[in-house]
Amino acid sequence: MKLHFVFAALLGAFWRHVAAEVVQTGSVCTVTPLGSGDDTPQIKKAFSQCSKDSQIIFQEGTYNIRQVMEFTNLKNVSIDIYGKWVWSADNLQYWIQNTLPVTYASLYTGWKLGGTDIALRGHGKALFDGNGQVWMDENKNGSNRKGRPINLTIWRATNVLVDGITWRQSQFWHTFVAYSKNVTMTNLDMRTRSNSQWSAVNTDGIDTWNSDGVTLRNWTVECYDDCISVKGNSKNIDVRNVTCYESGCAVIGSMGNGNGPDTVDNVLFQDFKCNHSSNAAWIKTYPGQGHVRNVTFRNFEFSDVDQPIYVTSCIYSNSGCDSSRLPIEDITWENIKGTSRYNVAAGMHCSSAAPCKNFTFKNVDIKPRAGGTAKVLCANIRNQADMGLACTGTCPAGWPQQLKGNR
Ligand SMILES: *[C@@H]1O[C@H](CO)[C@@H](O)[C@H](O)[C@H]1NC(C)=O
Ligand SMILES: *[C@@H]1O[C@H](CO)[C@@H](O)[C@H](O)[C@H]1NC(C)=O
Ligand SMILES: *[C@@H]1O[C@H](CO)[C@@H](O)[C@H](O)[C@H]1NC(C)=O
Ligand SMILES: *[C@@H]1O[C@H](CO)[C@@H](O)[C@H](O)[C@H]1NC(C)=O
Ligand SMILES: *[C@@H]1O[C@H](CO)[C@@H](O)[C@H](O)[C@H]1NC(C)=O
Ligand SMILES: *[C@@H]1O[C@H](CO)[C@@H](O)[C@H](O)[C@H]1NC(C)=O
Ligand SMILES: *[C@@H]1O[C@H](CO)[C@@H](O)[C@H](O)[C@H]1NC(C)=O
Ligand SMILES: *[C@@H]1O[C@H](CO)[C@@H](O)[C@H](O)[C@H]1NC(C)=O
Ligand SMILES: *[C@@H]1O[C@H](CO)[C@@H](O)[C@H](O)[C@H]1NC(C)=O
Repeated sequence: MKLHFVFAALLGAFWRHVAAEVVQTGSVCTVTPLGSGDDTPQIKKAFSQCSKDSQIIFQEGTYNIRQVMEFTNLKNVSIDIYGKWVWSADNLQYWIQNTLPVTYASLYTGWKLGGTDIALRGHGKALFDGNGQVWMDENKNGSNRKGRPINLTIWRATNVLVDGITWRQSQFWHTFVAYSKNVTMTNLDMRTRSNSQWSAVNTDGIDTWNSDGVTLRNWTVECYDDCISVKGNSKNIDVRNVTCYESGCAVIGSMGNGNGPDTVDNVLFQDFKCNHSSNAAWIKTYPGQGHVRNVTFRNFEFSDVDQPIYVTSCIYSNSGCDSSRLPIEDITWENIKGTSRYNVAAGMHCSSAAPCKNFTFKNVDIKPRAGGTAKVLCANIRNQADMGLACTGTCPAGWPQQLKGNR
């Protein structure tokens, strides 16, 4: 009997020791959190041992992430995360100096995932905690900043599924999909909210860029910046059932500020709720080259949105608005219903050098929160007279994205 106990105790100690390492059984790598210190080395080990035709299981518990991670040659790997991943907040200088460049706008990421046939599942249990507050405080209302890491970047990847993950307090954009094909991201829950005097700036839910075939379903996001943002050279983007709080909701852009032409084609945003947002269904480009073509915003409900529909050819700079050669065409807004914060439902200024074409509005019902009727301001839309929404006035060049009162 006694011997039995000793044996059990020894086995327990042995198991605890072993459990703190990656255990590989056939094509399955199982990882148990260390409980303290840095879990990055064992996470890297699991991704290197099980990088092909494998499964990696992260058991419950808290994983401390103190280093950047880059796993970009995965082939047929299923990653199952049951634990909480916490990105360290006491070594910001490390992150600032070591995060990985993602080319776009000189931005950086803390975690790159790439390859083919990858499934990353959180089973409703995975929680990614970016300790974002320290970044908001460090950044002091600033926007882009070298080294402030995008949380998860899907990079040069094909056939990816990301499902069932919760994010809290991301350091920067929650997710970024770049140079990828056929990416599906479902049942995701994101919230980044500041509790200091500095706002959560640029904590977008997702940005897509240079990617083809991105499907998003069942998202809930509170992020204080763009919720779902489709950037240059994205095509075939299908987004449905998204609820956004305190955000820019559904947006094309920013785009058009690169060296070559920037294009966006075939985008569907459907079944959106936008609660207390800056904008709801909108398009922002720089005065560049390229096009935005075939975008549908369908079934939007919102409340207290600063300027629900906004189209600009000169975002941020408010200059060169009429010299942009990036036409915006074949755009449909259908079943768009809610309240605007002020008396403007839509402000749309297209470039006179490349006017907007084929805008279609069906069943658009936007009322000012305080009652009365909302204005629709337009400029340089080719088919303005029969687009299905009556313009009530001209939208000047450099019209602001967010209004500060009735106009
Ligand atoms: C993918 O990997 C799994 C093991 O996780 C394996 O069972 C399956 O056969 C692999 N698929 C292909 C197409 O090789
Ligand atoms: C991603 O964010 C999650 C939580 O939002 C955090 O746990 C994780 O450390 C972040 N990862 C990186 C690489 O920044
Ligand atoms: C797209 O990726 C999914 C995995 O998310 C896969 O099941 C599907 O077969 C892929 N589609 C194509 C056309 O390869
Ligand atoms: C940061 O920006 C927000 C929103 O623009 C503003 O309300 C807040 O006062 C700013 N914080 C400081 C300390 O200036
Ligand atoms: C979206 O959520 C609903 C309700 O939970 C679920 O039935 C459906 O399968 C989800 N869709 C996807 C693509 O996961
Ligand atoms: C939409 O997504 C939410 C989660 O964000 C889910 O609770 C809801 O069931 C989904 N609705 C449908 C119709 O799939
Ligand atoms: C326009 O985009 C939709 C997706 O919203 C797609 O189904 C359709 O095929 C596209 N049309 C063209 C002409 O490419
Ligand atoms: C917006 O969200 C808040 C918080 O969930 C909720 O109290 C409020 O009712 C929502 N407003 C609308 C009009 O949906
Ligand atoms: C106008 O755009 C819609 C998509 O929003 C498209 O279905 C339709 O074919 C376009 N019409 C013309 C005349 O190009």
